[in-house]
Amino acid sequence: MMPNRLIVDRLVKHFHRKQPYPQNIQLTSLQKIRHRLRRKKEVIKAVDNVSFQVAMGEIYGILGANGSGKSTLIRLISTLLLPDSGQISFFGYDVVNDSFKFRQMINRVSVEASFFKRLSSEENLIHSARLYGLSARDAREKAEKILVRLGFDSTRMDEMMEDLSRGMQQKIAIARALLTSPILLLLDEPTTGLDPKSKRDVQRFISEIREDHDVVVLLTTHDMVEAETLCDHISIIDNGKFIATGTPKELIAQISTQGDKVTLEDVFIELTGKDLTEDVE
Ligand SMILES: Nc1ncnc2c1ncn2[C@@H]1O[C@H](COP(=O)(O)OP(=O)(O)OP(=O)(O)O)[C@@H](O)[C@H]1O
Ligand SMILES: [Mg+2]
Repeated sequence: MMPNRLIVDRLVKHFHRKQPYPQNIQLTSLQKIRHRLRRKKEVIKAVDNVSFQVAMGEIYGILGANGSGKSTLIRLISTLLLPDSGQISFFGYDVVNDSFKFRQMINRVSVEASFFKRLSSEENLIHSARLYGLSARDAREKAEKILVRLGFDSTRMDEMMEDLSRGMQQKIAIARALLTSPILLLLDEPTTGLDPKSKRDVQRFISEIREDHDVVVLLTTHDMVEAETLCDHISIIDNGKFIATGTPKELIAQISTQGDKVTLEDVFIELTGKDLTEDVE
């Protein structure tokens, strides 16, 4: 029987970056050449031996500070990057060997979503839906239903994408990803930068997605409350490594209390030594 779950096994992705010139000193051309020849390659362990599994119907959260490796992990699962080593499989399909099949099952939403900026959101949505074989009529109907649930004013569907606010564009990106009913939905910071109401709309929508159809939802966030309320399981990522995994309750139970109520934020600070509220945006 095919395992109906996402399996990530000992995944590794390193980037190699040349050390930049020292910024505070003026270098002569000769010094620059010398520096270039001598400068060492720096290895960035963006994803460093990460393993986890997500069962069908689950919402799994990856919680981490800026630069901890969240987007790299999502890009690896969405076939946009090739792993150095390790495996990713879903329904028995391998992300590298069966990438075509993989792409049919997944969809990704990220803050840098690309659109035809001078076309309307409706045209953008219909265009994407047609690539997946949906008729324009079905696409429009389905998109409207999703957008209403996301709190998007559907009378603005004929405005050019570039005239919509970032939050509105984010909602269109989410609607686009859901048009094709993906069974693996990758959400890279779906609520970052949204106003409180839009944030709640999107969070409510995410928690309801699994009521419509079978789906695995993997989302990244630096919002503790979001992780705690939306996710069935959470992993905390720090410098490319998973340093803790569990249900929100299990993670909170890891920290000893002296009477005070422990929050996920306390867990995060204790484990990573970082305060997420400082580095967000
Ligand atoms: N294409 C790339 N080339 C070189 N380094 C990269 C590349 N992509 C990411 N990195 C580095 O890998 C590390 C992890 O980056 P990543 O974008 O995955 O972090 P993140 O957790 O998504 O951060 P944020 O919360 O800011 O979105 C960072 O040090 C980043 O500079
Ligand atoms: Mg990121």
